[in-house]
Amino acid sequence: MARLKVAVLISGRGSNMGALLDDCARPDHPAEIVLVISNMTDAAGLQRAQAAGIATQVIVHRDYADRESFEKALDASLRAGGTELICLAGFMRLLTEWFVERWYDRLINIHPSLLPAFRGLDTHERALAAGVRFAGCTVHFVRPAMDAGPIITQAAVPILPGDDPERLAARVLATEHEIYPLAVRLFAEDRLKVEDERVLIDGAQAPAGTLINPLAEI
Ligand code: GRF
Repeated sequence: MARLKVAVLISGRGSNMGALLDDCARPDHPAEIVLVISNMTDAAGLQRAQAAGIATQVIVHRDYADRESFEKALDASLRAGGTELICLAGFMRLLTEWFVERWYDRLINIHPSLLPAFRGLDTHERALAAGVRFAGCTVHFVRPAMDAGPIITQAAVPILPGDDPERLAARVLATEHEIYPLAVRLFAEDRLKVEDERVLIDGAQAPAGTLINPLAEI
């Protein structure tokens, strides 16, 4: 069977893109990364994609008069590459309703918080300031509002005594690299259905048990 054609949009480091590349490189994976696009010329992820033999493009938003013309260029490249699913992976541009509607339910994002908590930037700083006991990350279908849309996969990560934003970010990032490939695999296997803005997953199993933080002392 033909593999699902996936494009990844990045702006920087590209570690999530790398996790997707690694997973899709497995034999019999139902998806393949066909294109990586960056809006930043110096995005480190571009080199990693090129090293893996993936087609890359740089489409710099500043080269366009407005958001619409930038997105039209983006859209044209994605379509020319035969893209069937777009993964935003640290892509630091807000997309307009026009673009989101055009790729409705074929456009997903990873965000470093347990949505709907802590939309936007500086999620780890804000989680620590709020004193929550769990942080985490979310892969979701994109809707026009920022960091909103039906949730596909999430990972919860405990906040530990003495955490600072960097230490927490590293712990969350390790789980991002697990849940993003999982979400892409589920999509590629056609196991996701959006109903009433919630995602139903065919054959999904929930983990056993409950996480409590802190552990009760005995
Ligand atoms: C990740 O934390 C992701 O959740 C957020 O931006 C960061 C991108 O990191 N959207 P990387 O470029 O994938 O390493």
